[in-house]
Amino acid sequence: MVVSENIVGKRIFLRSLDAHDVTEKYISFLNDPEVNRYMETRHQHWTSFSVNQYLKEINESKDSLLLGIFTHTGDHIGNIKCGPMHPIHGSAFISLFIGNKNYWGMGIGEEAIRLTCQHSFDSFPLFKINAGMYSDNTASQRAFLKVGFELEAICQSQYQLNENIRTNYIQVGLTKEKFLATR
Ligand SMILES: CC(C)(COP(=O)(O)OP(=O)(O)OC[C@H]1O[C@@H](n2cnc3c(N)ncnc32)[C@H](O)[C@@H]1OP(=O)(O)O)[C@@H](O)C(=O)NCCC(=O)NCCS
Repeated sequence: MVVSENIVGKRIFLRSLDAHDVTEKYISFLNDPEVNRYMETRHQHWTSFSVNQYLKEINESKDSLLLGIFTHTGDHIGNIKCGPMHPIHGSAFISLFIGNKNYWGMGIGEEAIRLTCQHSFDSFPLFKINAGMYSDNTASQRAFLKVGFELEAICQSQYQLNENIRTNYIQVGLTKEKFLATR
């Protein structure tokens, strides 16, 4: 799925991505070990070909929305995804990364999550949005909790963080009702 218009916030805007956005900078975000430390995307090396293929697949899908996160000066600093959206259960998963580390810890993640939840609840028949993260990823947990997501599950030793360490998986969730009440 793609959006035809920019989703505009205070410090950032979100928009669908196409082949023109697949720059060396974007590819380097995906391959940066500090950025992808807690992301499943770290298990492959990304190239222009694989990023373009991924964009094409997700833009053509009927249940997932991928948006670039841009500063108001037009700098592409990360991505956020909502999907797959389940047609029966009305639930979806949201995930994001800010690849430009200069923008970490400034509330951009929170804003991107808030904008994406607002757009997704307004545009699709969704009842609830969930997100999952490694328990070590404190910044991610904080960003979601600040939007109003609540801790729903902790799965012990679910993931292999690196060769020697397993880590817990945390799931947070937010219903449309609760999101609207906190807006
Ligand atoms: C996770 C991520 C999206 C958060 O975005 P962000 O813009 O940095 O998030 P915010 O600034 O909105 O909120 C981060 C919160 O975590 C806190 N934080 C950041 N790093 C932290 C750390 N190492 N320990 C404890 N708290 C930390 C910040 O202080 C802030 O909380 P506060 O507003 O209460 O002070 C971003 O850090 C990122 O892209 N990381 C790499 C990719 C990634 O891990 N994605 C998520 C996969 S689930």
